[in-house]
Amino acid sequence: MSVRVVVGAQWGDEGKGKMIDLMSETADIAARYQGGANAGHTVVIAGKKYVLHLIPSGILQKNTVCVIGNGVVIDPVALIEEIKMLESMGIEIKGRLFISHLAHLIMPYHKMLDRAREKKAAADKIGTTGRGIGPAYIDKINRAGIRIVDLLDRDTFEQKLRKNIEEKNELLKKIYKAEQLAVEPIIREYLDFDKLINPYIKDVSLYLNQAIKAGKKVLLEGAQGTLLDIDFGTYPYVTSSTPTSGGACSGLGIGPTFVDEVYGVIKAYTTRVGMGPFPTEMGDDDLVNLRELGDEFGATTGRPRRCGWFDAVIANYAARINGISAFALTKLDILDTLNEIKVCVSYEYEGKRITEFPSEMRILENCQPIYETYPGWESSTSEIKKFHDLPDNAKKYIHRIEELTDTGVAIVSVGSGREQTILV
Ligand code: IMP
Repeated sequence: MSVRVVVGAQWGDEGKGKMIDLMSETADIAARYQGGANAGHTVVIAGKKYVLHLIPSGILQKNTVCVIGNGVVIDPVALIEEIKMLESMGIEIKGRLFISHLAHLIMPYHKMLDRAREKKAAADKIGTTGRGIGPAYIDKINRAGIRIVDLLDRDTFEQKLRKNIEEKNELLKKIYKAEQLAVEPIIREYLDFDKLINPYIKDVSLYLNQAIKAGKKVLLEGAQGTLLDIDFGTYPYVTSSTPTSGGACSGLGIGPTFVDEVYGVIKAYTTRVGMGPFPTEMGDDDLVNLRELGDEFGATTGRPRRCGWFDAVIANYAARINGISAFALTKLDILDTLNEIKVCVSYEYEGKRITEFPSEMRILENCQPIYETYPGWESSTSEIKKFHDLPDNAKKYIHRIEELTDTGVAIVSVGSGREQTILV
């Protein structure tokens, strides 16, 4: 591989952090292309847990250079905190992290607006992470955003910031009846970010294009997942960016002709956080408690994740939208103790069978999942290193997923550690 995209094939939290960390071992560069500090990539190395929100998990591999593309919205406070956290753990950052000069900044008013909008929406809320993601992308599309490059020109930066804060204060006051921001302290605080961020700023598109032409191995890392995509996800219960593979090119400034393969990371069952339809969701009184078994609590917000069975309609859709070359199947070990495992193969709506993912929320909210039930393997897989050593029922489960999605499973993860990985 020279250029590989890694995408989430469900609603995020598929275990991309671990996969990207592993794949970065053989990559020269790991590049993040969308989202912001709403993401939470958890990586466990030698029993030590690292949670990264903005910086690609490749930073944990000594020789990998990490870049953050123009498609990412960067909260400078979160970025500096993350750099400091990694440095305090002995990880070298200088010269190994580059940030696109074209990336937009998340400001305190974006976070306030995010929370105020959610509060006002009450029962209709999206269930966002409250990290200011939606409002920052609104400003970007509205041509009112502030970019990293603006940090380099203090006068323009101050002017833009002042204008934005004044406008957002009007919104906070009149529409959301929320607390307003004091202009001067923010200007003072943010004007100083130029010094801290300056060493990392780069023309990422130019850097990546040159690296690819020089034969470097590059990993393009998506955050969130296919079903949270602004176009192809369960709109409006989505994030405000393009986590699907197409976003990798526009979020980094490289052409699609450079992409060699797309890996879809998919969990052996399904989870989502936030609101919105979820056909295979289990009820609280369900006998299987995947949340406890899989420790399904958000890495960014700590919110309990909603859990359900594997949904092949979604997996198929993700394979199509992203052009997935192979799946990396994660958290198989979480199913180890179950005596029965279900797979949703299609939906039923008003007496009709649906096999393609429906775009109408009304259908998705009211359809019934049609399940196939398989016997569990009821033994531990977490120490297994080779595919043929997996219990027969686990192999059958994986092969059925491959059949239903017409996509091969190339990697199986059976635990959070780097070593708990089976290359098929
Ligand atoms: P936002 O990205 O904070 O605007 O949130 C929009 C939706 O995306 C909400 O349902 C969030 O829970 C969901 N979301 C955002 N980031 C992640 C993630 O990293 N994993 C899972 N869900 C996420």
